[in-house]
Amino acid sequence: MDLSRSATCTVAAVAVVCLLLPRPCAPAGDHLAVGELLLPGKSVVSDGGAFALGFFVPDDATPARQYLGIWYNNIPGRPTVVWVANRETPIFANRTSSSSGPAPALALANDTTLVLSDASGGVLWTSGVSSVGSSSSSSSAVLKNDGNLVVRSPNGTALWQSFDHPTDTLIPGMKVRMSHRTLRGDIFVSWKSPGDPAPGSFSYGVDPGTYIQLLLWNGTRPYWRSPVWTGIAVTTNYIGAGTVIYTAVVDTTEEISTAFTVSDGASPTRYVITSSGEFQVFSWNGTASAWATLDSWPGSSGCSRYGYCGAYGYCDNMAAACRCLDGFEPVNAAEWSDGRFDQGCRRKEALPPCGVLDGAGFLPMPSMKVPGKFLLEGGNRSAEECAARCATNCSCVAYAYADLQSSSAKGEVSRCLVWVGDLIDTQMLDGRMAVNGETLYLRVAVAVASRGRNASKNALKIVLPVLASVLMLTCIFCLWFCRFRDKGRRTNSTESQNKLTASNWNEMGQVDHTEDLEFPCIRFADIVAATRNFSETCMIGRGGFGKVYKGTLDRGQVVAIKRLSKNSDQGAEEFKNEAMLISKLQHRNLVRLLGCCTEAAEKLLIYEYLPNKGLDTILFDIAMKSVLDWPTRLGIIKGVARGLLYLHQDSRLTVIHRDLKASNVLLDAEMRPKIADFGMAKIFGDNQVKANTKRVVGTYGYIAPEYLTAGVFSVKSDVYSFGVLLLEIVSGVRISSSDGIMEFPSLIAFAWSLWREGKARDVVDPSMAGSCSADEALVCIHVGLLCVEDEPSRRPLMSSVVSIFENGSVSSMSLPTPIQPAYFTMMEERRDDTVNTRNTMTMTILEGR
Ligand SMILES: *[C@@H]1O[C@H](CO)[C@@H](O)[C@H](O)[C@H]1NC(C)=O
Ligand SMILES: *[C@@H]1O[C@H](CO)[C@@H](O)[C@H](O)[C@H]1NC(C)=O
Ligand SMILES: *[C@@H]1O[C@H](CO)[C@@H](O)[C@H](O)[C@H]1NC(C)=O
Ligand SMILES: *[C@@H]1O[C@H](CO)[C@@H](O)[C@H](O)[C@H]1NC(C)=O
Ligand SMILES: *[C@@H]1O[C@H](CO)[C@@H](O)[C@H](O)[C@H]1NC(C)=O
Ligand SMILES: *[C@@H]1O[C@H](CO)[C@@H](O)[C@H](O)[C@H]1NC(C)=O
Ligand SMILES: *[C@@H]1O[C@H](CO)[C@@H](O)[C@H](O)[C@H]1NC(C)=O
Repeated sequence: MDLSRSATCTVAAVAVVCLLLPRPCAPAGDHLAVGELLLPGKSVVSDGGAFALGFFVPDDATPARQYLGIWYNNIPGRPTVVWVANRETPIFANRTSSSSGPAPALALANDTTLVLSDASGGVLWTSGVSSVGSSSSSSSAVLKNDGNLVVRSPNGTALWQSFDHPTDTLIPGMKVRMSHRTLRGDIFVSWKSPGDPAPGSFSYGVDPGTYIQLLLWNGTRPYWRSPVWTGIAVTTNYIGAGTVIYTAVVDTTEEISTAFTVSDGASPTRYVITSSGEFQVFSWNGTASAWATLDSWPGSSGCSRYGYCGAYGYCDNMAAACRCLDGFEPVNAAEWSDGRFDQGCRRKEALPPCGVLDGAGFLPMPSMKVPGKFLLEGGNRSAEECAARCATNCSCVAYAYADLQSSSAKGEVSRCLVWVGDLIDTQMLDGRMAVNGETLYLRVAVAVASRGRNASKNALKIVLPVLASVLMLTCIFCLWFCRFRDKGRRTNSTESQNKLTASNWNEMGQVDHTEDLEFPCIRFADIVAATRNFSETCMIGRGGFGKVYKGTLDRGQVVAIKRLSKNSDQGAEEFKNEAMLISKLQHRNLVRLLGCCTEAAEKLLIYEYLPNKGLDTILFDIAMKSVLDWPTRLGIIKGVARGLLYLHQDSRLTVIHRDLKASNVLLDAEMRPKIADFGMAKIFGDNQVKANTKRVVGTYGYIAPEYLTAGVFSVKSDVYSFGVLLLEIVSGVRISSSDGIMEFPSLIAFAWSLWREGKARDVVDPSMAGSCSADEALVCIHVGLLCVEDEPSRRPLMSSVVSIFENGSVSSMSLPTPIQPAYFTMMEERRDDTVNTRNTMTMTILEGR
């Protein structure tokens, strides 16, 4: 009858029962407090419901064995276990059979140690004695929604966490680490069999000998090897259905670690060392209600197993077969053709005696997983020095060089590997894996080296397409630049061209047979109709290069239409070509470009329409900003960083946005960010790193100093804008505003000063202080300050920024220290001679040079 009364009664009754029971209460929600017991049949479920901690039975063996573990809470069937506590000490059912008697249980003993005991009270597993002396009855064990079980002291310090004690599974956020000092690291160990979590014979971790590759061991012998790290801080793998796996490598003076994350909204993804010795990546397919195996190493062919192809042999991934390195032939041709490769290969032509100058040369083999057992030559060598290092040492048989600029925390800018013994476990990588490959330079007799290109079909297979595509790209950019120069002679053609089809595209030199490109050119008349002749009521914004309208095309499709200002000096042709290139950029953190229109002097771009407004309208609105709590803001920061990284690096073109700002970050219904307005970005050739322009475009406050003063822009000018945006998101203060920054001349000066004084916490927007993680905010502010350094070379690349964020637990301590930005004094001067300092509109400054 009276519901509220009966609810109160129930609560009271439970409390009474709890008090009456001889045993403490069961845990509630996502944590286990001191004095609580977790019993079989009960579980602790993480806050967001993704993971559960409890007792499970892995197979149907009798007597049944129970284990304490963590599994995916929302995945049906037998639990998919990601972590096991008592791997070697199961709880046998014959001990628990007496249902009324004592049961096995997990508890926090001595306030800080997790202890699993069996029914008779014997200890089956403990999380180890914590070194912290001051224990407190208010510590607790929390199962976080990423699957990490953390024992926390009352002040929030993690005393122990399951992510530091991995079993056989790597899930997002978890690291594979190795300390540079102790050369010890995390080792993942397979289960003994699919039904037995006891440690099996396969293990996986960072190779302690070289620390820049990962090894899978069978017992103590290497069984498979990852490609050697080439210094790319973050690699992206598209695995279909919109899911992207980001793998980050972080190298600090303390430790090297790698971890992965998946794109927002992707289904659960995990890497496992299986009991049969495969390193596999699985993704949950909800439709099929099963785990899909996305990839598996060493894989079924066996050819990529460690050393399988013998000395100087290599595994050709594409053909799944062993081959001899270029300039080598099988030692025993008969055995080789029988599929026995252990004897390996030998030189077709012996090397000249040592000391004969010019008697030997180097033959490049691109896209290789370079051999194991290399020597790491320290000390910042250039490519030439690395080659010389090998050339001048007669026992050196090969070398490989990598540029580390994007990643090294230790200040090394390059990596030089040399080999002095047999070359073992080489592999030619293809397709998706090719990004992890590098060029191996083989020392061969000079005759072989000069014949190399003709003799080696394999090298040709790779080199030719690469050369061809480089040539094509060069042509495209030549054309593009020539046309750009020719802009004075542009024609006022008004012919309406409805479709730019694949054939036009191919004329440009770009061959793309995989996709039948249909890039719609929409008629101006249709756009006039869609926007009711550009009526003010349809206008939804004013962007960097013109006004933006909402329009409905005749098929009912709602779009955003950007009308570029007429004084743009770009010709119609190159505008179209560029729009077409841009339309090929697809990323969940970029707004999709759907089409364009060029007629008469009009240039319009048609984008997907996002009903939510720009980030600025929420972030800087007193009434609305509390909608953006800290996790949401962090999500926005990460999303923008990923989108920008894609523009800079992953799209294979280098695209510089040039006008990144809060109003160009649109939010979708789930507050996920999409970068807009990159349609006017400049596209760079592969090797072009910076450019000059007489016409500076961008938004005051977000423009990097070197761009504003000298017109030089590069990816680092976008990094600057990103830094400003980051500080805005954390502080909730507009860069162009003087409110909320106390007596400081600018937001940057404000953030920097407080950060230096150790009061970075005060930078954080008070409207989200409640949800804010101090550590995360500190890292964000720190990264923001690094991004807004005056000197472009001191700013990190977006790959490093993304890597910092993907690696969740990077501490502010491990980042370089930002230096005082000089730019804010200059901004102060400029502010005085700008009439309207609150003007957030994009401005175009014509530099008289
Ligand atoms: C329970 O069964 C296991 C496996 O058969 C056995 O080793 C153990 O001694 C049994 N324990 C008791 C208390 O009977
Ligand atoms: C708890 O602390 C006592 C004394 O410090 C120690 O003897 C005991 O082994 C500890 N228990 C556990 C489960 O760590
Ligand atoms: C938190 O408490 C632990 C002991 O429980 C102590 O070692 C640590 O220094 C404290 N951290 C902070 C930030 O107060
Ligand atoms: C792992 O090593 C053991 C012992 O050396 C061997 O018997 C077994 O076949 C190996 N497993 C695989 C998959 O190679
Ligand atoms: C999931 O499984 C279904 C049925 O097997 C398949 O059609 C679908 O392509 C799978 N989805 C993904 C994303 O792999
Ligand atoms: C060649 O290089 C190896 C490995 O760095 C080194 O051990 C050896 O002494 C070098 N030999 C000469 C002649 O420099
Ligand atoms: C490598 O060179 C860079 C710049 O050239 C320098 O900053 C760095 O300190 C050098 N590192 C080492 C280990 O010599």
